[in-house]
Amino acid sequence: MSELNNIALKILKDGKGILAADESTATMTKRLDSVNVVSTPENRLLFREILFSSSSMTKCIGGVILYDETIKQETSKKNKIPELISEMGSAPGIKVDTGAKILAGSPDEKITEGLDGLRERLKEYYQLGAKFTKWRGVYTISKNYPSKLSVQSNAHALARYSALVQECNMVPIVEPEVLMDGEHSAKECYEKTSEVIKKCFEELILHKVDLKGIILKPNMILAGNKSKDKISNDDVAKLTLKCLENSVPSEVPGIAFLSGGQSELEATENLNLINKHNKTNFIMSYSYGRALQQSALKFWSKDTKNVEGTQKIFNHRAKMNTLAAQGNWSKNLEI
Ligand code: G3H
Repeated sequence: MSELNNIALKILKDGKGILAADESTATMTKRLDSVNVVSTPENRLLFREILFSSSSMTKCIGGVILYDETIKQETSKKNKIPELISEMGSAPGIKVDTGAKILAGSPDEKITEGLDGLRERLKEYYQLGAKFTKWRGVYTISKNYPSKLSVQSNAHALARYSALVQECNMVPIVEPEVLMDGEHSAKECYEKTSEVIKKCFEELILHKVDLKGIILKPNMILAGNKSKDKISNDDVAKLTLKCLENSVPSEVPGIAFLSGGQSELEATENLNLINKHNKTNFIMSYSYGRALQQSALKFWSKDTKNVEGTQKIFNHRAKMNTLAAQGNWSKNLEI
């Protein structure tokens, strides 16, 4: 088994999932603003350090995606953040793209940037302890979108990124996110997501990326958040599985979904149903940002000294999602 395959499997083994704590400073500022906490480097670290030293880091969280600011910060006990994460039994990871910018040629769409100088930045992150990385491409659905140009160019960037990351002995998380925003039906989401993922693998193969050493981070198949189309959780799970079975090569060891704006409960319930119906060999787990942190952040914002209370809420969410990643969650386990 290759070293990269080992890392990917270790991150996702036994129902473990990924904590996406890689919000850029701008996004984290929005999250903190929403709960009336001032966004300073100290406050951003304070909240994150509470999460990273929670007991669920050992039992449920196989990896944490960090942002550039955080991977270079030190804890209150003067530990480096990646060291704290490793000591807790989890793997530190890092977001390496530099954000989604306007796509020249199709200005209503986005292309993710960050390839220039990436090889050098990866070496630095590896030295800092990163075992895996993340790059997110974003796609919107509407009458004419995503365009061929957006599907092609984002897949190309994801593949070039992945090849560079593997060259540097880290596992790339490949994240093509078809956004939930819009009026589209679940059927349209299914069709567009299938097209996007298939193109990503075409490019990954062209760039000679070892598929056993990646983690795919896709969206679930959902109706748009402004859609009239209503779809049951069971159908979300079935359509998501059908889409992935038909578009992901069997070598890929693991799939870790993003939550993408679903509520905490929805994200857990859908993951649970996916695993109940899963007949593939893929591990199906989570790589959640908002769906792991929302309640903990809200609680913490009311009393930023209450470490134990904040950790209790975070631990609960992590435990629920780890049960869901094994198809063992049920609503009556929620508090
Ligand atoms: O890139 C997106 C994040 O890593 C996942 O965040 O679960 O809030 O969509 P989310």
